[in-house]
Order: sequence, then structure tokens, then C-alpha cells
Amino acid sequence: MTIQEIKAEILRLKKEKDFCILVHAYQGQEILEIADYVGDSYGLSVEASKDSHKNIIMCGVRFMAETCKVLSPEKKVYLANPVAGCPMADQIDLEKLAELKKQYPGYAVVAYVNTTSELKTGCDVCVTSASAVEICKKLDADKILFVPDQNLGSYVAQNIPEKEFAFFNGCCPRHFAMTAQDVEKAKALHPNAVFLVHPECRPEVVAQADYVGSTTGIMKYARNSDAKEFIIGTENSIVEHLQFECPDKQFYPLSVALTCMNMKVTTLMDVYNVLRGVGGEEIELSDDIIKGAKKCIDRMIELG
Ligand code: 13P
Ligand code: SF4
Repeated sequence: MTIQEIKAEILRLKKEKDFCILVHAYQGQEILEIADYVGDSYGLSVEASKDSHKNIIMCGVRFMAETCKVLSPEKKVYLANPVAGCPMADQIDLEKLAELKKQYPGYAVVAYVNTTSELKTGCDVCVTSASAVEICKKLDADKILFVPDQNLGSYVAQNIPEKEFAFFNGCCPRHFAMTAQDVEKAKALHPNAVFLVHPECRPEVVAQADYVGSTTGIMKYARNSDAKEFIIGTENSIVEHLQFECPDKQFYPLSVALTCMNMKVTTLMDVYNVLRGVGGEEIELSDDIIKGAKKCIDRMIELG
């Protein structure tokens, strides 16, 4: 089969079998082209909560498929490729969280959405990179324990100096790998480029940015900017998508190491196989986990 033939079959089957395809923007261009909705973690959560199809395929990583299931427990939700996990989400479990809570009594627990649904049952509210600052500001708490991403946490704390923050020492291994030297090198190669960065990067990388934002924020900024060249400090698919969208501008990766293999493992054939009933993994969560995690995600949508 060719790519065009698989795409045509996917579009036919998803209509026939009442499937919605949600795609995180870190997926490759060919997956974006079969999506009902493309977005960042926040956009996907909201879309999942509003969607009316009977079945959902998540082209992204496991915590995103779990978020869909929590928000739409009556639907069948499939993770297109079952090995697509998120190393950051796997860094903290309820046991580690309980230890932290003992260390920081009286702190409100804010979880990045990049966590398991089970972990969310122990947290007060979750946030995405797009909503973190706003939600932590609005949250009725002066002391915040932010898990698991220390980089996003520090970025939020910097923007809300009036509140006290404590962190877990987790990170996205891909964004964390970026260094100040990577930025110097990229800027030396492209001296006229504007530098756009995701807050999962280290503070010394974020400090050199012209703009800091979520995946969607970075894409919007680049689309609307009058600048012609951009260094992209987030997952390298964003470089690809922006290049497709804005052929009159130039986009450069900050580093080849900013490629998330967990995001890249999903293929068109995986989606096709889910639709044929021979692939993917149906997400199943206990009622208690759905109830506990829903509280945490609903609070984010309410405040966001
Ligand atoms: P968002 O910008 O979509 O929040 O995502 C960053 C990320 O790492 C998703 O896994
Ligand atoms: Fe997880 Fe980082 Fe990959 Fe996002 S980019 S899925 S946070 S490892």
C-alpha cells in the first residue's frame, strides 16, 4: 500500500466506524494530515471532553490517551501504539508523591498533565505548559508543590514571585538535554533567527529565548511574527509543521537531540490497524482512578 492509499482507507474507516483521531503536534506531518484535531496537551484534553464520536484514537503518548479516557469514560479510547510512553510521566508514582507531601505539609499539589492518571488522583489540580502560570496564579494556595517537571515548575515560580514553590526533580529527558552551548551554537549558525522555547527546557536555555510557550504557543508566535527565521527549542516535529505551514519562512532545530522517540513511534499503519481492530491498545482504567483523576483535570479546565 502507498501512503496515499493508507490515508484514504483511514479516512473511510474512521467515518464508517465512528472514530475521532486526536493528534499531538509532536507527531509527524503524515499523521497530522489524518487528524480530526491537532493540538498541544491542553487543546487535546478540552477536545476529548467535547467530542461526540463513540471511539477515539490518540496519536500521542500513554498519559494523553489516559486523559481522554478519564474525560470520556463511556467511549472506547485507543492508544495508537502501545509502546508510546512518556519517560517524564513514569518518573513519579503515588508512593514518591506521598513522601513529598510529608516533606511539604500544607502545600497544594499541582501536577503537570504529563503524569499517569493514577498519580493525578493524589493531586489537587493539573496544568499543561500552556496553562501552568495562569492556573497556579488563580489557585487559592500560597504554597505549591509542583510535580514532576522541575523546569516547567521553575518557569512558573519565576512568573509568580508572590507564591512559595517546592519541586520534584523530574524532567523531560529530551528538553532537559538542551544546554546553553546548544543555544550559542544555533545562534552562531543563524544570527538573524528568533529563538522560541518550550518551558520544559532548563532555565539557562529559557533565559535566552525571545518567546517561551507551549507547542501551540510557539506555532502561533511563529505564524504571526514578521521575522523570517526561527530556532525552535522544542520537539523537532514542530520545525517540520511550521516549515509546511509557512514556506516563506525558515525554521531550524535547536538540536537533533530534541526528537522524542516515544512520539515518533506511531505510524499511519498503527492507526490503520486500530481501525481494522487488529492493533493499538484500548485504555482501561478503574472507576476510582477515573473519578480521582477527573477531579484534577476538571479543575484545570475550570480554572484554565
Ligand atoms: P505541550 O506543549 O503540548 O503541553 O507538550 C509538551 C510535551 O512534552 C508533550 O509531551
Ligand atoms: Fe514525554 Fe518529553 Fe516526549 Fe513529551 S517530549 S512525551 S514530555 S518525553
